[in-house]
Amino acid sequence: MIKKALFPAAGYGTRFLPATKSVPKEMLPIVNKPLIHYGIKECMNAGIFEIGFVTGRNKRAIEDYLDFSPELEEKVKDSSKAKLLHETNEMIQKCTFTYVRQKEMLGLGHAVLTGEPLIGNNPFAVVLADDLCEGEVLTQMVELYNKYKCTIVAVEEVDKNEVNKYGIIDGKEIEDGVIMVKNMVEKPDIDKAPSNLAVIGRYILTPDIFDLLRNTKPGKGGEIQLTDAIMAQAQEGMVLAYKFKGKRFDCGSVKGFIEATNYFYEKEFK
Ligand code: G1P
Repeated sequence: MIKKALFPAAGYGTRFLPATKSVPKEMLPIVNKPLIHYGIKECMNAGIFEIGFVTGRNKRAIEDYLDFSPELEEKVKDSSKAKLLHETNEMIQKCTFTYVRQKEMLGLGHAVLTGEPLIGNNPFAVVLADDLCEGEVLTQMVELYNKYKCTIVAVEEVDKNEVNKYGIIDGKEIEDGVIMVKNMVEKPDIDKAPSNLAVIGRYILTPDIFDLLRNTKPGKGGEIQLTDAIMAQAQEGMVLAYKFKGKRFDCGSVKGFIEATNYFYEKEFK
């Protein structure tokens, strides 16, 4: 069973400056809900209620969002606005939230390793909140995990000229949409990419990833890359890539952010 999820959320969000100077990028709203809200809901729908955050300086707004605010409750009670807090309050009631700070920004792999005390010796999901997913991707991945009991990365096909923005995988399809990973490269040059199947920000990791991360040398960009540790896992045992059903918005880019905003406005407000 997957009971825990980790949200790496220590990054500076430099692509969204100046907004991210004082607002964590994970708190930027798509219409009226911050990005983490969508990610946490996806976890809850997948049966995951123990949620850990790897945070850093300037990220307190995340903790405040995930805590009751009695003054605010009092203010909106008996008004039509009270219902706007329902979903968030449900999260606070049903989930536990734990936090650890990443002291140095040494890459996604390092962030995941920093989260080890929140996860322990359990398989867990990783959610990169700026990849906003529609279609319960984690639920699909948990089902697959229950069948194969190994690390799973969510993948989708991207334009050939965008492969240098992602971890790219290659392997052998063992059932429809499920690929046994043979190769995995972090942000390859466009002409050297093994495929156009890109890892997006949803992972299920088995806990042996922590020891592998401890032994992972800095890779692309001088950072400890999660991709490299997962590749080591694929070499030692089995890692699957899963072509999820649904839609993903890259809310780390202005274009994806606007697309998500329009999509959720149409879906929920019209
Ligand atoms: C990270 C990972 C990359 C993955 C991407 C998905 O990159 O390192 O392998 O494809 O997330 O969003 P980042 O976007 O943090 O540079």
